[in-house]
Amino acid sequence: PAFTQDELKAQVGRAALDYVVKGAIVGVGTGSTVNKFIEALATIKNDIRGAVSSSVASTERLLALGIEVFDSNEVEELAVYIDGADEIDGHGFMIKGGGAALTREKIIAAQSRSFVCIADASKRVKTLGAFPLPVEVIPMAAQRVMRQFARMGGMAQVRERDGVALVTDNGQHIVDVTGLKITDPLGFESEVSQWPGVVTVGVFAHQRANVCLLGTPTGVETLRF
Ligand code: A5P
Repeated sequence: PAFTQDELKAQVGRAALDYVVKGAIVGVGTGSTVNKFIEALATIKNDIRGAVSSSVASTERLLALGIEVFDSNEVEELAVYIDGADEIDGHGFMIKGGGAALTREKIIAAQSRSFVCIADASKRVKTLGAFPLPVEVIPMAAQRVMRQFARMGGMAQVRERDGVALVTDNGQHIVDVTGLKITDPLGFESEVSQWPGVVTVGVFAHQRANVCLLGTPTGVETLRF
């Protein structure tokens, strides 16, 4: 029988344990796939020093399972960062931020020697952009940033929760952009990152994945980039 998406996420979450360095602090991302990894991590918690976390939500889960959480400023370099993605292409370039945690995710990814992406096969794409691109912005800049995307052929809207603009862990807003075909992720990331008021663009090209553990109907596939 075929695996459910939930089972595929659990499989890659467990497979990621192979990349955790004993005695070290591990970088932990955000999302439903990472939640499976956190559950798996709890089974080896005595073998690690703790975690650096990319969101309030992940921090709460880690602490509840007895895993110590360090501030990223307390740690110079991490061996591994484990996180999900909303899309991943054949170069390890990703769209992230569906969970609104992209800024902290990019900071921890930049601080880590290796990015291990865990995802079910539905995340694998040829060209990034079908998933609405999350961009964290200073609220004051939201309308201008949305007009800039409109000029590129995109359609942007401010992400809402319960009828009001969602506020990120960093006190900012998220703009989601549809209709983009991101054929040059490195160039796109560089350009949009320079727009005034953009905190973080959800294209992870300069901080791409080095490994992807992809949950497929026939088992976990390991992609290296
Ligand atoms: C969080 O901001 C995102 O970057 C997540 O990595 C992404 O949304 C993946 O989440 P799921 O594992 O729930 O699909």
